[in-house]
Amino acid sequence: MAKPQPTLMDKIVSLCKRRGFIFPASEIYGGIGNTYDYGPLGVELKRRVKDAWWNAVVTARADVVGLDSAIIQNPKTWETSGHVAGFTDPMVDCKKCKGRFRADHIGDLSCPEKPSKRPGECGGELTEPRSFNLMFKTHVGPMEGSGSVAYLRPETAQGIFLNFKSVLECSRLKPPFGIAQIGKSFRNEITPGNFVFRTREFEQAEMEFFVPPAENDEWYEHWRGVRFDWYIDHGISPERLRLREHDAAELAHYSTATADIEYEYPFGWGELEGIACRTDFDLARHSEASGVDLRYFDPQTKERYFPYVIEPAGGVDRMALTFLIDAYEEEELEKDTRVVLHFHPAIAPTTAAVFPLVKKEGMPERAREIEAELRAARMTTFYDEKAAIGRRYRRQDEVGTPFCVTVDGDTLAEDLVTVRHRDTMEQERVATGELVSYLDDAVRNWGRASRV
Ligand code: GAP
Repeated sequence: MAKPQPTLMDKIVSLCKRRGFIFPASEIYGGIGNTYDYGPLGVELKRRVKDAWWNAVVTARADVVGLDSAIIQNPKTWETSGHVAGFTDPMVDCKKCKGRFRADHIGDLSCPEKPSKRPGECGGELTEPRSFNLMFKTHVGPMEGSGSVAYLRPETAQGIFLNFKSVLECSRLKPPFGIAQIGKSFRNEITPGNFVFRTREFEQAEMEFFVPPAENDEWYEHWRGVRFDWYIDHGISPERLRLREHDAAELAHYSTATADIEYEYPFGWGELEGIACRTDFDLARHSEASGVDLRYFDPQTKERYFPYVIEPAGGVDRMALTFLIDAYEEEELEKDTRVVLHFHPAIAPTTAAVFPLVKKEGMPERAREIEAELRAARMTTFYDEKAAIGRRYRRQDEVGTPFCVTVDGDTLAEDLVTVRHRDTMEQERVATGELVSYLDDAVRNWGRASRV
């Protein structure tokens, strides 16, 4: 029988492991669920995704500030937000194989017992769905008892609502304004899967934008557009992105309208980020439960009111996965096929690789000097002197390095290096004194047109 061909996801998972993007967590002990660690290139990729998000959502705007709140908050937070009572997914059990499955995802899941495919195909009867709360419980302090129960946050958003008054007082901002944060969230997903798409521990990038209620609709439209364009500006293929409005049955308990930015993954369309209208649900409930007035006082109109909230909420791991999938190409060349990741240079883990053409005549020493100059200009670099130059280029294509800088005889004689571009494979001669500004311009001016 012919061996089954690896799928696109198989190839990406394998590349991620082999080249140091993403490893299965606790692998030497057999792993733990669908949990992953980020290796040297993965951590750079994720850092760039977060920097690009922070830059667009916070640094570039005068109306958004940042926050870093605690993962473990007073448990009343989650009673008040509705998570203790309602943050559940429907779960079914198989009476034969004892598998547990998310009832609303049955069509996409597999039975652990082979050769059966879908849950229930092992011959077992599935139970009626029951609600399973996704929050991880823990205990705070040295005594374990009902009084010490706390939760790992299932979203970063609540930390923002709890700090609304403090930020308002110290920042002198007034609605419309936003508070953003990036950090870990935890959900005890019934069936995690599709690599880092759905995991139990993940990072979120969220922003709560507080607006006068009358301005709700215009800001909802603003943030849907801004967040959609951010993905396209960072190189994601527009034809694989769409905005989808939730219908009434799909809306979360706190939301009056939500739009998902969806990407067409190899396993189908899936949510990449959500933009939700949360109204005054959270501020009003936390005000009532805590007894602290979280209304905003407008000194001009002398009105005191709860601002409405527009929330763009994305997952950093899902963003990194999307950048990886969208960038991946097996490009047919005249003589062979090259694997290349067409990352936007602002997202690529390594900006420039530096090579001496040969390992002699002072080229390695000059290449090391040039690499140090690029590092001093805060570029991420990689030095490589092993193997033929063509092979070294290909190794960098496979991890998405947009520029390779080669030191040769001309560098020593005339201070010129060769810059080789990943997407077009074109080469240019550049004066070493102009290399930093040349690469800076190339990063800034990169566009999808230069993708092959
Ligand atoms: N504060 C709103 C909120 O948390 P959400 O749609 O549940 O909304 C926001 O989550 C984003 O977080 C999602 O669009 C997704 O990118 C990411 N996310 C949610 N659950 C995840 C999981 N189990 N694994 C990875 N990312 C997840």
